[in-house]
Amino acid sequence: MKIEVFFSPSQIDDLFLRDKNVVVIDVLRASSTVIAALNNGAREIIPVNTIESAVKVSGNLFGDVVLRGGERNGKIIEGFNLGNSPFEYTEEAVKGKSIILCTSNGSPAMWKARYAKNLLIAGFVNVSAVVERIKEIKDDIYILCAGKLTQFCIEDAVSAGMIIKQLMDDDQEFEFNDSGVAAFALYKNASKSLVKMAKASDHGKYLMEIGFEKDLEFCTSVDMFDAVPELVGNVLKLKKKNEVPATPHVPISIDTVGGKGD
Ligand code: MLT
Repeated sequence: MKIEVFFSPSQIDDLFLRDKNVVVIDVLRASSTVIAALNNGAREIIPVNTIESAVKVSGNLFGDVVLRGGERNGKIIEGFNLGNSPFEYTEEAVKGKSIILCTSNGSPAMWKARYAKNLLIAGFVNVSAVVERIKEIKDDIYILCAGKLTQFCIEDAVSAGMIIKQLMDDDQEFEFNDSGVAAFALYKNASKSLVKMAKASDHGKYLMEIGFEKDLEFCTSVDMFDAVPELVGNVLKLKKKNEVPATPHVPISIDTVGGKGD
């Protein structure tokens, strides 16, 4: 089995990921937020590429069963219900709701992988569950780090490296690309204190500056959740064992929305 890591979505075209098994990581904070929201009972998450798309797809269900969440420059978008801090996605706020998520890098990376055969959302908070799911898939895996504005982000790379470390601990044979080998080396270097690594990262420093230091602790808490958000039909859900892809219950999907970016 081949495991290929990409440090930025700008390294690949949308169609490259078609029919592939893709793991998207945006540790700070979109993937950690998606994992928290679904574990807190959100019905589904629809990641979109632009604010315009988020407004369009939430339509007249907005504010009732459909919420808009996301950020620009780390802060809540005007007219949205929620920002992008996992602490906002409490059971009280999200239970039973469909959430249209629009963030600067994470949701566009998820959207980019919308034609994947299997799309898994990963972070430190669910790393072991993701590794188990990768082993079940038993096929080549493409790990897509969201990065920041097309650039490398250390926290996403270290999280990819932790997945690789756990796969290497397994008996099966895996083959990694050079980025995968580099991710593993970065993980080894950072593994003593993930939160320290996050606090020293570019985006971590920025989030601390704007008051989100607690998010860094949350997003680097290993295995807080034992479940993997996956593309089911055209939305992200916590997939139940043997679930067959289904048609979404509302006429919105990551397949039909998007755009060129804000
Ligand atoms: C992103 O998508 O760039 C992030 O999740 C930004 C953030 O809210 O920290």
